[in-house]
Amino acid sequence: MTKRKTYKRIKLMKLFDVYPINEVTIVKAKGSYVWDDKGEQYLDLYGGHAVISIGHTHPHWVNRIEEQLEKIAFYSNSIKIPLQVQLAEKLGKVSGKEDYQLFLCNSGAEANENALKLASFHTGRKKVVAFSKSFHGRTALAVAVTDNKNYSAPVNETDNVIFLPFNDEEALEACFNKEGKEIAAVIIEGIQGVGGINVADDSFLRSIRSLCDKHGAVYIADSVQCGYGRSGKFFSHDFAGVNADIYTMAKGMGNGFPVAGIIIAPHIKPKHFQLGTTFGGNHLACAAALAVLEIIEEEKLMGNAVMIGKYLRDELNAISELKNVRGRGLMIGFDVPDELKDLKKNLLWNQKIFTGEAKPNVIRLLPSLGLKKKDAEQFIDSIKEEISLLASTPAS
Ligand SMILES: Cc1ncc(COP(=O)(O)O)c(C=O)c1O
Repeated sequence: MTKRKTYKRIKLMKLFDVYPINEVTIVKAKGSYVWDDKGEQYLDLYGGHAVISIGHTHPHWVNRIEEQLEKIAFYSNSIKIPLQVQLAEKLGKVSGKEDYQLFLCNSGAEANENALKLASFHTGRKKVVAFSKSFHGRTALAVAVTDNKNYSAPVNETDNVIFLPFNDEEALEACFNKEGKEIAAVIIEGIQGVGGINVADDSFLRSIRSLCDKHGAVYIADSVQCGYGRSGKFFSHDFAGVNADIYTMAKGMGNGFPVAGIIIAPHIKPKHFQLGTTFGGNHLACAAALAVLEIIEEEKLMGNAVMIGKYLRDELNAISELKNVRGRGLMIGFDVPDELKDLKKNLLWNQKIFTGEAKPNVIRLLPSLGLKKKDAEQFIDSIKEEISLLASTPAS
C-alpha cells in the first residue's frame, strides 16, 4: 500500500482589517500624479490624506533624504542633533513664529498628546475644552478630545473633557465663566478636516485667545491637517490675527516621511523629562522636514495654494448641484446631494481622480500645494462630466 502524503496547512499572517480600502495598488508617484500596478495614471487631489505638501517624490526631498541616509539615519535624543536646530530655525522663519520652541515627535496624535500634556503640566490643571466634530487623533488624550465616540474605547473615557459647539462664542464664554479656574487648555482645528472642512471663525479664535489669557489656560492650535501652508497661510489659525500658545503639526511636515512636532510659545518653559520620544527628531526625519520647508519657500507654494484654491472654489461654486463650497487655500470641501452619492467613486474609477471625503456627504480636496492650474481645470471638467452622467442615469 502506498503511503499518502500529508501536507501541512501553511498559515499566513494577515493584516488587521481596520481600513476600508479602494481596490487599487499605487506603485509610483510624481508631483500630483500617482500610478497603479497596471500603469494607469491618477490625479491625486487627496494627497494621501493631506500629507503630500510639496508633491510626491519631489527631487529635492528625495535627494535630501538619500544624502542623509548615506551619513546617518538615526541616533537618539541623548546627543546633539544640529539638524533639529536647523529645522527649528527654518520653521520659525517660514511660519513667522521665530520666538517659539520646537519639540519633535512622530504623528499628529502624538503631537496633540504632547501639547495637551504640556498644557496640563504648565497650568497644573486637568480640564480641556474641545469642540463638536473635532478630530485630534486616536491615542488616549487625543481621542478623548475627539468628538466621535466610535474611535474611543472604554479606557479612553474621562470627565476631563468639555465639548462645546464649534464657533459658539457664547457657550465658550459661559463655560470659562463657570469652570475657568480648572481649564488647562482649549484645543481647536483652524479648519476641521475629518469633521467636514468647517472653518473656525476668526472672531471665535480671538475669543479663545482672550479667554485663555483671562483664565490662564493654554490655546492649542491643532494644525495637523490645516497647517503647513495648506490654507495659504502657514497656520490657518493665523487668519484670526492672534497667536496660539502651542501649534501641533504633522501631515504636510514630511511630505510622507513620518515626522511631527509642536511649537511652543516662549512663556511655557521646558523641564527635563517632561516630554520625550525615541524616534522623534531623528536625522532622516529632520532632513525630510527641512526639504519640505525649503520647497514651500522656494516654490512659493503658499501663494500657489491661495491662487489655485480660489480658482477651484469659484468653479465649484458655479456648479449648481454642489452645495456649500468652503475652505481656505487647498483645503476645500463641498456637500454632495444624495442623488450624486456615487460622485466620489465615479471620479476615481471613471476619471482616475483621487479625492477625499468626510461622512456623510462631503468631498474633500487636499492636494499637493504645488497643484497646477491645468490639473485643477481637468478636475473641474471631470466633475462636471460625472455630475451630468449621474443626473442622466436613472436611480437603480
Ligand atoms: C486635525 C488632525 N489632528 C490629528 C490627527 C491625527 O494625526 P495622525 O493620524 O498622524 O496621528 C489628524 C489626522 O487625520 C487630524 O486631521
